[in-house]
Amino acid sequence: MVSRRRFLGYSIAGMFTIASGCRPPDSQQVSSPPASSSLKSQFLDSKMGLAGKRNYLLGYPVNMNTPPEGFFSWRRQLRRTGIGDFSYNNVGNPFAESPIPFHTHDFERELILRFAKNYGFPANDTWGFLSHSGTDSNMHGMYMGRTVLKARTGVEPKCYFTKEAHYSIQILRDLLGMESIYVDALPDAWMDPADLKSKISENKNHPALVVATIGTTFKGGIDHIDEIGKAVEGHEHYIHLDAALFGGYLPYTDGKNLVQFTDSSIAERRYDSIAVSCHKFFGFPSPAGLFITTQSNFDEFNKEYSNIHDPEYIGHVPGTITCSRDAVKPAEFWYFSNAGDMRRQAKDALFIMENTTFLMNELLSHFPHLNPVRSNSLSNTVYFKKPSDELVRKYSLATMHLTSNSERDEYAHVMVMPHASKKVITEFLEDMDKHMRN
Ligand SMILES: Cc1ncc(COP(=O)(O)O)c(C=O)c1O
Repeated sequence: MVSRRRFLGYSIAGMFTIASGCRPPDSQQVSSPPASSSLKSQFLDSKMGLAGKRNYLLGYPVNMNTPPEGFFSWRRQLRRTGIGDFSYNNVGNPFAESPIPFHTHDFERELILRFAKNYGFPANDTWGFLSHSGTDSNMHGMYMGRTVLKARTGVEPKCYFTKEAHYSIQILRDLLGMESIYVDALPDAWMDPADLKSKISENKNHPALVVATIGTTFKGGIDHIDEIGKAVEGHEHYIHLDAALFGGYLPYTDGKNLVQFTDSSIAERRYDSIAVSCHKFFGFPSPAGLFITTQSNFDEFNKEYSNIHDPEYIGHVPGTITCSRDAVKPAEFWYFSNAGDMRRQAKDALFIMENTTFLMNELLSHFPHLNPVRSNSLSNTVYFKKPSDELVRKYSLATMHLTSNSERDEYAHVMVMPHASKKVITEFLEDMDKHMRN
């Protein structure tokens, strides 16, 4: 709450601004009000305290490790050139020429091509950009899907996903004004292909925009793209993959095939676009997202987009929904696309798989009554009956009500990210044990 004294401090500072005709206050005239400097030191102290607790964040999909020193040295190199120092802007299509030289499209293009290779996109048929977040990448995928399907058929598509999908999918489908068709999920939290097929046949006059989740948010289920492909065969469709978390690590595991654009046994594309968050598995220190599709999808989309959007002002159709885009993040995230950093990511992927197995085995042997579940062997997520509120707070556990064997109960989950070492997991298990005894 703002105290009267602090309020007066703000009001006096405000009066200076009005008196100076909205000019920025001259540092000679206005010194920092005392309330603000105490707020500053309180804020800094509390954040310093928090930094030491970051490894306890077990309930949300964020890699809390600090990136390697090489990343910070790259960041300093960029800063010396002016990137991150004065205003750069990645407005427009990173694969097109830009009228303003202060952008980092070249880094953005290269990182997209490098990550696209991990997902099996053909080098000569790749398009994408670095978005603001996984949600932003999903928005572009769904918008692209809706636009091309409508252009091909003249009919509004319907949007298919399960209730296990991330809540942002419901928001985005509302934003895009599409009707949702909820597809049943199977017990391991993946989309039931038979139900998808039957719902598509009930809606045969509308094309289908299918949002498949590779790593559902609470249960870690994986929708099977080939099963989805078979269910939609013969019907006009677009498949977008929301692989916000799992899309980061699966390419380094036995589950690589689950996010591959093509498969050696299937010549055709298996999906149309993919979204992956950069701050989740990769550990980029602020939110960003990969959005990757094919050049051919992009061209089809952009032909329609150019009817909506007058490209004259920036010299080309931007291909992205937002106009101004961050230029610093693509240049910085480019570091994560180099071969050395990908080797680190491969080690992290192995580490989280091993530690999830460790957590699951420990839960099964010591707390079977909590009903622990790991939906599949490639998931880093284990959910179980909610422990005490104190533990939920200490480890920032996400909780949800679920129904299992017709009993409704509150559950929590742990997502084993690269900072969740065996030591942290053991401390968590010991805490669980202590709380059970009390
Ligand atoms: C499956 C899934 N999709 C999308 C998102 C949203 O991603 P972001 O936080 O990068 O917007 C999440 C976040 O947890 C998620 O789990």
